[in-house]
Amino acid sequence: MTKYIVQGGKPLFGEVEISGAKNAAVAIIPAALMVDGVCRVENLPQISDVTMSLKILENLGAQIRTINRHTVEIDSTHIHSTRTDYELARKIRASYYLIGALLGRFGHGEVAMPGGCNFGGVRPIDLHVKGFTALGAKVTVEGGFIRAATDRPRLKGANVYLDVVSVGATMNIMMAAAMAEGNTVIENAAREPHIVDLANFLNSMGANIRGAGTDTIKIRGVERLTGGTYAIIPDQIEAGTYMTAVAATGGQILIKNIIPKHMDCITAKLVEMGVEVEENEDTLLVRRNGPLQRTNVKTLPYPGFPTDMQPQITTVLSLAEGTSLVTEGVWSSRYRYVDELRRMGAKIQVDDKTAVVEGVDHLTGAPIQASDLRAGAALVIAALAAHGESEVSHVQYIERGYENIVEKLRAVGAEIRSVEEPERAALDAG
Ligand code: EPZ
Repeated sequence: MTKYIVQGGKPLFGEVEISGAKNAAVAIIPAALMVDGVCRVENLPQISDVTMSLKILENLGAQIRTINRHTVEIDSTHIHSTRTDYELARKIRASYYLIGALLGRFGHGEVAMPGGCNFGGVRPIDLHVKGFTALGAKVTVEGGFIRAATDRPRLKGANVYLDVVSVGATMNIMMAAAMAEGNTVIENAAREPHIVDLANFLNSMGANIRGAGTDTIKIRGVERLTGGTYAIIPDQIEAGTYMTAVAATGGQILIKNIIPKHMDCITAKLVEMGVEVEENEDTLLVRRNGPLQRTNVKTLPYPGFPTDMQPQITTVLSLAEGTSLVTEGVWSSRYRYVDELRRMGAKIQVDDKTAVVEGVDHLTGAPIQASDLRAGAALVIAALAAHGESEVSHVQYIERGYENIVEKLRAVGAEIRSVEEPERAALDAG
């Protein structure tokens, strides 16, 4: 068990280099299964969700060659199985992308029901299934596996309307349709930057996808995807997390290797709160000297304020002057971290999808526990801003999605270190 020990209350100063986008990488790696040849993927974040995704592909017969810390070559010429390892696939939520990829290229695939972050609400995949079914596949659940198969040589293009804007369903249907016979139109599609990134990846391998980034995506199926080289976009949420960290602690950080346009929804809220943000070509300079002002935040699909930044912004608002309202507009519930913030002195009341955040003068260090990836990031931010020492446990959630978070924070002056603790079972046994 790893824990982070944080001495809080110090402003952050320096530079942070942003890694490749996790939520693009966990879709692009499965999509590489569709490529009949070698594809080189650059700017991969070094996080456990990526390691796990690559392992799943390797088990299916893909050859993975590590070029350097952030670049791999994936050769999916000789895939020998379309059934994923149960234990590996169930560990990550994004393993559902393997269904779209396998179904698209081979006409069948079996993938363990996905796991991943559980922030209290239900995480359905009915829209993915609706899309696959429209393309001519039969989808069943057997023995813990989702099984999708078509009895035709290839899937058949169709019109799919998504009842709810879903990132996962949009990307999964896009993958399956990329090699279907004929045309597919996805309406009410999600527009997140990683959707555009997946479409760009597939197009660079020979697919014909237009409209990604709008709510109507048009896909003309091709017979084969061939190899190529592709670099993943920078991680919008990782960048936003460091922006909120400096907003909470005060200080000044230069956030490097980003696409400022992707950050607009986050920048706008921070500026309302009194944070100064200076934009350059691929950097943002974020500074906070004065007090934080209250504001209201509602999470929405892109280009709205991202749900994956909700715990982090709520943490900053817990230190703002006045009372703020945060409304979760994407998930049915995502406030499990609030109990932990309360241990640190935050005044937050949650009623269904809304959190009423009454700003306090300061938080105080405490032992706190991450319950999912972004909750974990929020607790690290709280610990950095708090007076005194905090111990953040269950950090394996954080390391699923943040590359070298401890080193990156130490480089901007944070007092944070990672310590190994013997497992409780080992202690009990001893
Ligand atoms: C992706 O999850 C991200 N995960 C999540 O980030 C993120 O919170 C979410 O998109 C929203 O931006 C990955 O990319 C791996 P959705 P996803 O399908 O695709 C409902 C993180 O912290 N819905 O866009 O699973 C669903 O209940 C993670 O990095 C259906 O009703 O989310 C939710 O209310 C956590 N039926 C809404 O749509 C479906 O079939 C949006 O979910 C699918 C979804």
